[in-house]
Amino acid sequence: MTKPFDGAISQYFDKTAPSDIRKAIKGSHKDDILNPSYPYDVEISKKDYTAQYDALQIELVKLQAWVKATGQRVAIVFEGRDAAGKGGTIKRFRENLNPRGARVVALSKPTETEATQWYFQRYITQLPAGGEIVFFDRSWYNRGVVEHVFEFCTDAQREHFFSQVIEFEKMLVDEGIHLFKFWLNVGRAEQLRRFLAREEDPLKQWKLSWIDVEGLKRWDAYSEAIRETLTRAQSPHAPWTIVRSDDKKRARLEAIRHVLLSIDYDNKDIEAIGKADPLICGGPEIWD
Ligand code: ADP
Ligand code: AMP
Ligand code: MLT
Repeated sequence: MTKPFDGAISQYFDKTAPSDIRKAIKGSHKDDILNPSYPYDVEISKKDYTAQYDALQIELVKLQAWVKATGQRVAIVFEGRDAAGKGGTIKRFRENLNPRGARVVALSKPTETEATQWYFQRYITQLPAGGEIVFFDRSWYNRGVVEHVFEFCTDAQREHFFSQVIEFEKMLVDEGIHLFKFWLNVGRAEQLRRFLAREEDPLKQWKLSWIDVEGLKRWDAYSEAIRETLTRAQSPHAPWTIVRSDDKKRARLEAIRHVLLSIDYDNKDIEAIGKADPLICGGPEIWD
């Protein structure tokens, strides 16, 4: 099977990647954490992961039962760089949920018609009805980050977005929607390692796009756009939750745990949920 984009990821690795990034990947074992600022050296053990994961899954099922029984509306936004683990985390949230009532929204780039609408319009129609948990795999925050980095929007459009987003989210929360905003934080070497794996794996190649290839060279532009987004779209009613995702497993556990700890559903078992890890999951101050 030929590699997507003519092997552009491996070519980038060989020729263009900063030498410290290349070195970090080259000598690494698959369980090693590559991000120097990550608080742990190796991935969580399979045994610890499975024990916590299984307990959290039972709580998620209880959460959904309560959401359905009481007609709650839950919207969970997943943002992060390419390969941060958005799709994988959503998959683990939904693993044991009734898909009727646990919907994923992963919108493509705006159509010609959508591009003429109010920017939030196509997201509004996807918001949860009573009894639903909706997972946004990317969201209106495209305008803050990827659309800016790739110049899919003008600076004026982005400013307009920032002038509305806090009030927009306030309306959702005032409406009674339980709104979560996750930013999954992945380091540069780990992102590249995941891209390299995707390039080799016929089952994962669909996850690669030319934006990922081009985006590799725009790491710093992304960082700047992310920093600005985390600052300007921060509010008491809809705060960002950063999840360090260099270890995907710890990230999944902490994201699920955060949602469970934040909602008072029936038969909640605090002991089963366990304690949050503030080194992995916290406010914008743990983003880097
Ligand atoms: P993903 O990481 O979601 O699999 P990509 O990395 O290819 O997809 O694209 C990142 C995001 O940028 C997607 O949400 C996509 O819809 C959006 N996007 C791509 N092209 C455009 C465009 N021309 N205008 C606006 N948004 C775009
Ligand atoms: P597109 O939006 O598909 O026209 O692609 C935009 C950028 O991605 C251009 O710089 C293309 O050269 C690059 N690109 C798209 N598809 C491929 C491909 N199959 N192989 C190499 N580069 C590609
Ligand atoms: C992710 O893994 O973060 C996304 O779901 C897929 C991507 O990398 O574009």
